[in-house]
Amino acid sequence: MARHLITSALPYINGIKHLGNMVGSMLPADVYSRYLRQRGHEVLYICATDEHGTPAELAAKEQGIPVDEFCAQAHDQQKAIYDGFNLAFDYFGRSSSPQNHEITQEIARELKANGFIEERSIRQVYSNADGRFLPDRYIIGTCPHCGYDKARGDQCENCTRVLDPTDLIDARSAISGSSDLEIRETKHLFLLQSALAGEVEAWVDERADNWPVLASSIARKWLTEGLHDRAITRDLDWGVPVPADTWPELAAEGKVFYVWFDAPIEYIGATKEWADQDPERRDWRSWWWESDANVHYTQFMGKDNVPFHSVMFPATLLGTRAPWKKVDVIKAFNWLNYYGGKFSTSQRRGVFTHDALDILPADYWRYFMMANAPESDDSSFTWEHFTATVNKDLADTLGNFVNRVLSFSRKRFGDEVPAGAEPGEAEAKLGAEIARLLAEYESQMEAIQFRKAAAALRALWSAGNSYLEEKAPWLEIKTNPEGAALTLRTAMNLIHLYAVVSEPFIPTSAKTMRQAFSLENDTATWVNQDEAKSLAAVPAGTPFTIPPVLFAKLTDEDLESYKERFGGESA
Ligand code: 2FM
Ligand code: ZN
Repeated sequence: MARHLITSALPYINGIKHLGNMVGSMLPADVYSRYLRQRGHEVLYICATDEHGTPAELAAKEQGIPVDEFCAQAHDQQKAIYDGFNLAFDYFGRSSSPQNHEITQEIARELKANGFIEERSIRQVYSNADGRFLPDRYIIGTCPHCGYDKARGDQCENCTRVLDPTDLIDARSAISGSSDLEIRETKHLFLLQSALAGEVEAWVDERADNWPVLASSIARKWLTEGLHDRAITRDLDWGVPVPADTWPELAAEGKVFYVWFDAPIEYIGATKEWADQDPERRDWRSWWWESDANVHYTQFMGKDNVPFHSVMFPATLLGTRAPWKKVDVIKAFNWLNYYGGKFSTSQRRGVFTHDALDILPADYWRYFMMANAPESDDSSFTWEHFTATVNKDLADTLGNFVNRVLSFSRKRFGDEVPAGAEPGEAEAKLGAEIARLLAEYESQMEAIQFRKAAAALRALWSAGNSYLEEKAPWLEIKTNPEGAALTLRTAMNLIHLYAVVSEPFIPTSAKTMRQAFSLENDTATWVNQDEAKSLAAVPAGTPFTIPPVLFAKLTDEDLESYKERFGGESA
């Protein structure tokens, strides 16, 4: 029994997420949390919407509503989709919460007190028409290298050269289009990461060997490039204000913290939001404060987020000199592509989470995404692959097994698990194989290797099919009804075992399978090795019902309609 704190990268508030976002953060965190809960651990899975920053401001502007209203609506929209995917967060918070404001400001004060935050003057582009400073990417103009006329102030999309806003020819504001721009001097807070570099490096060295390799290699690469001081404030209306008691001048100018400063702090903020809902029984500090030894903390994220989580957020926490819990294991993911190209939110290319749920239930997606998680490399989504996987693994190997066994048994032996015959050689062989595969599945889950875990799960399902083919109860029944009863009883025990161990991947179907049996005190508590070997947890005489088809087989027409709706190869 351990205490596991789990977080997944906070989804940006603006825009519905696509499957690529889902597979690299929230879904694997949910699968892992469910597994650990079933194994009897105490788990706290925390996530939230990442609400600050310019994109939220601009999206609200586009809709003509105040930004706080926009965020409240968008939060509820996203939460409803995640409920649809059966993501069992212990809490899904908001980075704009008062709790996050308070903790972010407190951390900033501590960093200043310890000499790790400093005010510096910088020169920045100011738009007179917009009445504001413009972030680099909100200045557009003609690229001096290739002549592309919509190059952004940070980079030219056309020739990929990195730019400075002052390089642009005919620079103008991306917000208003105005070219009435000037350079103004302005003060910002800088986090002195260079002063923390040695500590951060030692901290990474101490633990990154235990991380799956993608995260540790990115962290190390980032460290060799050196830790530079970073501006952690911005000129925006929407964000955590710089506290006036500590920086009166900057506060008066309306500066707020940069979104990447307050976003990871929201992991803590959301835990406090959770605790504040039931303060008598929930203690947020026991998860985050002086809990290095008794809490195990795992973070899930796409590879682009690794530098912030492995280096910058730890630097922030280390610099406070306070006993904040820091991450133990970072699990990172590569990209999921759509027919070899990128999923793109801005170009609406690929499959978005609300559309996915519109066409099929969550379990289809959950299984497919995790079985093909982009762990060691980028992986590609195609409708051909998706439909083939659903049909083969879910409909044939698992769903059909369940239905075949229960239907045949009811037809021959009625509504109860049939009695008759003692387990023999075939059952002993099956039990040993199931126990071996279960151990393999467990060890892949402990290592947070989802593709391999899914392969072990699939092998468990297949073992049932092989047993059934070998024993052929539909023939056995003619010459040896007792033997056929034993075969079916054993197969029903497999169904119950599948219900338990498949729960992290396909929770809804797992529950349906489990509830087919009227067992007293039945829970989804994990199966142990003895139970796996003996396959007798569901005794003869247990009443059962036949659930509706677990997974519908997808037809060629389905495939064509998905490709037409979402765009296939030519997307
Ligand atoms: O990349 C992203 O989608 C960010 N919103 C992730 C933030 S993670 C954490 F730091 F909040
Ligand atoms: Zn260019």
